[in-house]
Amino acid sequence: MNVLIIGSGGREHALAWALARSPLVSRIYCAPGNGGIDDDLRLDADGTDFAQIEQIVRAHDIEFVVVGPEAPLVAGLVDYLTDRGITAFGPSAAAAQLEGSKGFTKDLCARAGIPTAAYRRFTEAVPAKAFIRETGAPIVVKADGLAAGKGVIIAETIAEAEAAVDNILGGQFGSAGAELVIEAFLEGEEASFFALVDGENVLPLVAAQDHKRVGEGDSGPNTGGMGAYSPAPIMDAAMCARVMEAIIKPTVATMAADGTPFKGVLFAGLMITEEGPQLIEYNVRFGDPECQVLMLRLASDLLPALLASAKGGLSGVELQWRDACAVTVVMAANGYPGDYAKGDAIGGLDAAGAVEGVQIFHAGTARKDGQITANGGRVLNITATGANVSEAVARAYRAVDLIDWPGGFCRRDIAWRALARENTKR
Ligand code: AMP
Ligand code: GLY
Repeated sequence: MNVLIIGSGGREHALAWALARSPLVSRIYCAPGNGGIDDDLRLDADGTDFAQIEQIVRAHDIEFVVVGPEAPLVAGLVDYLTDRGITAFGPSAAAAQLEGSKGFTKDLCARAGIPTAAYRRFTEAVPAKAFIRETGAPIVVKADGLAAGKGVIIAETIAEAEAAVDNILGGQFGSAGAELVIEAFLEGEEASFFALVDGENVLPLVAAQDHKRVGEGDSGPNTGGMGAYSPAPIMDAAMCARVMEAIIKPTVATMAADGTPFKGVLFAGLMITEEGPQLIEYNVRFGDPECQVLMLRLASDLLPALLASAKGGLSGVELQWRDACAVTVVMAANGYPGDYAKGDAIGGLDAAGAVEGVQIFHAGTARKDGQITANGGRVLNITATGANVSEAVARAYRAVDLIDWPGGFCRRDIAWRALARENTKR
């Protein structure tokens, strides 16, 4: 069958790469895709114009649409396609509220007894600030809606938290900040856990850890993610089982009971605290760059699993995972996550891609006359597997060093936590 992937990031390139291994797939189109996707498979659409997507689907005999990013999901692209008889992977707009509204998710956690930070919701500054002064700092202030990963302020002082309230309610994130969630600061180690859901059944995938901060030692501003690795050492089998029972399954059951069953991939951002795992937030899509390491570890055909999530029948699907460790290092344009230049030529991709165990996924790249150029903030995902974390990391950085792009940078310490654990075990 022909498949259409919506999105343009490293996540979508990795999904295209994984689906290309399926004997059931003929052609994989990507809209709009990036420089890593062959020109004749790139379609000029971005998922915001639903009628245009429908047209593309009809014109190219596409039987299955996989939606990568959150914005078209929250806007209802899967509802639109499903209503027109087109099979699509991802949640309905109603179920995508798990990512689209932090307050919605916190209320659901409260009803279902899911462990998460204590919280309150506000639309007015005066009671929000009174609550902050009562509770004290550190405290976390969040815009309720989608804010491209920037809507969370970890305030170290009461003054900082009060300023965040004014900024968010004052329109810093537009309508995403019309409402606030203010919650207790959680201490622990973060991890990401992924599960496929078909509305009723849950198929756990594997866990990963990412590096959100731009700088080494996890310093500097937050980004979309500067690197990731899987498995996440803290998410051993017992912890994964605990997360399934305490967090994932009650969420899926509550969504179904509410008449808004969740389908697609449920991505739980977790804080592993001394009292156990707590839900920080849900995303309703694969993580980027977490997806890149998941796809390298996946040994089974991805297509039947995604189809079963969309159509039902996930209880009959089993996925095999390679024992290998996978690491991805993000190469970003100098200046990211602030302003950066576009258009630099990038060399060395063939040599880097030839390093043993390495797979390069493109993100913000363009291709013209065979030349790859930088066309975004996060530009390349240099991804590698190895028998252990050290080997995967060494391979990834060997490939990074072969990339000729003076206008780009990467963090040199991706997977430092997992490496430290591995080294103390020896
Ligand atoms: P988000 O953009 O929602 O992924 O949140 C960004 C980051 O803020 C998370 O990955 C955590 O590192 C941090 N964070 C969010 N909520 C809390 C919390 N309640 N306690 C501590 N850190 C948090
Ligand atoms: N890497 C985090 C995310 O995709 O939201």
